[in-house]
Amino acid sequence: MSASVHTHRVSVRDIVKRKGGTPIVCLTAYTAPVAKILDRHVDLLLVGDSLGMVIYGMDNTQGVTVPMMINHGAAVVRATTQACIVVDLPFGSYESSPQAAFETASRVLADTGCTAVKLEGGVVMAETVRFLVDHGIPVMGHVGLQPQSVKASGGYRVHGRSEQEADRIRADSHAIADAGAFSIVLENIVEPLGRSLTGELAVPTIGIGASPACDGQILVTDDMVGGFTDFTPRFVKRFADVAGEIDRAAKAFASDVAARRFPAPEHCSGVEQTKGRAA
Ligand code: KIV
Repeated sequence: MSASVHTHRVSVRDIVKRKGGTPIVCLTAYTAPVAKILDRHVDLLLVGDSLGMVIYGMDNTQGVTVPMMINHGAAVVRATTQACIVVDLPFGSYESSPQAAFETASRVLADTGCTAVKLEGGVVMAETVRFLVDHGIPVMGHVGLQPQSVKASGGYRVHGRSEQEADRIRADSHAIADAGAFSIVLENIVEPLGRSLTGELAVPTIGIGASPACDGQILVTDDMVGGFTDFTPRFVKRFADVAGEIDRAAKAFASDVAARRFPAPEHCSGVEQTKGRAA
């Protein structure tokens, strides 16, 4: 949908029904003002743990905590009425057992009001995904490049170039789909693999550096608007230059302050106004 306005908050069922249909439009959101703008343009907003790098200036996502995800998740839910809101389970909060995952996921759901959670991992997380789904928690999967384990998997590289690695990603995707995930993010994998997985899996695939054939696409919003410029992966397209705009605005503000052009009379109270504005 996305080009037209949703009449209700998009549900997991709505997302599943889009398999093979109109591409599902997804972006990340971490704050209320940005989520409010994005809400009318997307089907799904992900409160991604990428916020560790984008908002908190961390080197990777491993330092992100459950309270951080809850605070940002709740802000995004409060600011939106239409998008399906998915919140990432952060590193260390779900891997040890299905029960640990349930405790974190149920708290995230209850404290934010989000629709679903996302977790990273393939075959090794399938039992956990099954447990969460069986206990009423909608789960989005995430395979291919998994930022939470990037140190162990050789950095932010393209995955699935070798036959062996492609086979592993295929097994991971099928395991998570079979376990009941309602959709799966495919991150930074070779295009033919993203295309064939989209054809094979019964649930929607959401690509980020995967394939135009995926059932939906997601980007980190700050990458998409050119706000986060520390590192730009090949798969990012910049649709704006927010960093440049902020830089220009800050420069103009500094110059106005230095020259005492700001604040002008219209920004002050109790002074004579030149053009009939209330003093
Ligand atoms: O944390 C995040 O923003 C993500 C997206 C890159 C899919 O997981």
